[in-house]
Amino acid sequence: MDFPEYVKNAKLREWVQSMAELCKPDSVHWCDGSQEEYDKLCDEMVESGMFIRLNQEKRPNSFLSRSDPSDVARVEDRTYICTNNRHDAGPTNNWMHPKEMKVTLTKLFDGSMRGRTMYVIPFSMGPLGSPIAHIGVELSDSPYVAVNMKIMTRMGRKVVEILGDGDFVPCLHSVGAPLLPGQQDSTWPCNKDNKYIVHFPEDRAIWSYGSGYGGNALLAKKCFALRIASVLARDEGWLAEHMLILGVESPAGEKTYVAAAFPSACGKTNFAMLIPPNTLDGWKVSTIGDDIAWVKPDANGILHAINPEAGMFGVAPGTSYKSNPNAMDAVSKNTIYTNVALTPDGDVWWEGMTDAPPATAIDWQGQEWTPGCGRKAAHPNARFTAPISQVPSIDPEYENPKGVPISAFIFGGRRSTTVPLVYQSFNWAFGVYSAATMGSETTAAAAGKVGEVRRDPFAMLPFCGYHMGDYINHWLQFGRSIPNPPRIFNVNWFRKDENGNFVWPGFGDNMRILKWIVERSHGQAASIESPLGWVPRYQDLDWRGMEDFTPEMFEKVMSVDRDNWKAELLSHEELLDKMYDRLPKEMHYIRELVLSGLWRSPEQWNLPRDDQGMLVDA
Ligand code: OXD
Ligand code: MN
Repeated sequence: MDFPEYVKNAKLREWVQSMAELCKPDSVHWCDGSQEEYDKLCDEMVESGMFIRLNQEKRPNSFLSRSDPSDVARVEDRTYICTNNRHDAGPTNNWMHPKEMKVTLTKLFDGSMRGRTMYVIPFSMGPLGSPIAHIGVELSDSPYVAVNMKIMTRMGRKVVEILGDGDFVPCLHSVGAPLLPGQQDSTWPCNKDNKYIVHFPEDRAIWSYGSGYGGNALLAKKCFALRIASVLARDEGWLAEHMLILGVESPAGEKTYVAAAFPSACGKTNFAMLIPPNTLDGWKVSTIGDDIAWVKPDANGILHAINPEAGMFGVAPGTSYKSNPNAMDAVSKNTIYTNVALTPDGDVWWEGMTDAPPATAIDWQGQEWTPGCGRKAAHPNARFTAPISQVPSIDPEYENPKGVPISAFIFGGRRSTTVPLVYQSFNWAFGVYSAATMGSETTAAAAGKVGEVRRDPFAMLPFCGYHMGDYINHWLQFGRSIPNPPRIFNVNWFRKDENGNFVWPGFGDNMRILKWIVERSHGQAASIESPLGWVPRYQDLDWRGMEDFTPEMFEKVMSVDRDNWKAELLSHEELLDKMYDRLPKEMHYIRELVLSGLWRSPEQWNLPRDDQGMLVDA
């Protein structure tokens, strides 16, 4: 095999050579990461029908891709963590012995790239050369993967040069649809019957077969930056998290960075790009990342976070100039759309993008669509891939190889009842408990049923590469090892009233909560004690420009109902029992403490307090 002269790394050469021998592609292309290469691959996909070029005036340099209708989301039931000891993968991951899995996969990969090109895609997660960054190399027979990886990561020749003789995470991917001579290719090749998304944490390797869809195929993202990286992080004493990172600037110019975890499709991208109401004079939000954070302590124990990605792979439906103007501007050019609708003028559309739908469109499956036809125009998990540098609110520190200092962690799920709008955990261990037991009503980002509460510890349930009990313990120990750990907060933007309507307006008004969080993490802003943690009273939040949100409405989003919480804590027990063998005992004790706190009468939680949160006579 011929190698580009800059490829000197012996492990890399050997691995590419042997994988090419196994998969038997027609040719091997080393991605250099240049714009010319990107343009050429896009042109070829337009030619093959995998891409539709959008109207150059409306969406310059942008494309639409339609996936196979069976290949539209991550496939959790086909996702495996293959550790030598089954218990190291834990009860929340699918497991198979690595030897057995390798036999299965080697058979599947044998000849799987026939008739196709194997793209060699070297990528850096994090700014090139950052001490927090790590390098991977993906081999894929999908040009869609190659161009998406160019947007999502720092990709190409410069990565191989920085790698030198160093180590990298090998990521093998095939759509599992070998093309025999004379056979007509599909515009979205994939294997409808057989998919495997497999991680070998002990070898630090990833093998993905049969799907061409984002999270299953862009192996840098969930597979590397979360599942494999969470194992690296456990072993090396850092955190790899499903978190956005944002910066908050106060009117006095003080900058605070926070990282926040929400399960898939709970508005992480919107929160990362929040535009504060202009009535909150001078408060600004800037964006570092919208999905993944890698957090490492520096020599003084201060936590520094980077966004390991370079692009957004965001959920399109619901994104609009009302909900997220920054994202809308970011996707105005150089964007790949997957499974959105095509308008007659060569632009894109999805549910929630505009108040009025287009009169006609071609839906995500390529069929004629009209507003009354009873089908969705875009798939609910339709996506945009766009460079994060195009986000108008991008933070100037985004490329800083040292990362940004983190002052608070925020956890939130989608809960129509029970969980209040915001509370601050009493301490790190309580915070770990609340994150470990957080739940969310399911959405379309993963295959499966929509609308039930699913426990999603740290929003990492589908993304933790090892035993969830060990992961929770890692968080506990991590907090103990740093002198002044960030404060931990919980939020829930999704509380509904008795008629099923959202009570909290969300979006830009979330700034009011973020402001309180930032002030609390600096030891300012008042609060009172509730059974769950510290909570703001109505007068502790800044309501300028939102005076029509009354104390009664505030009570609706803040109330902690004893019976609901008893049921909630019982369902925590179910989750905790599942991980009993490795769960730190603190989790059981804290559950008991929260339960006993519920036995104060609700009236007591709301006793009048002064500005310092101290009890005063009524
Ligand atoms: C994502 C997800 O794609 O969490 O970010 O599913
Ligand atoms: Mn995500």
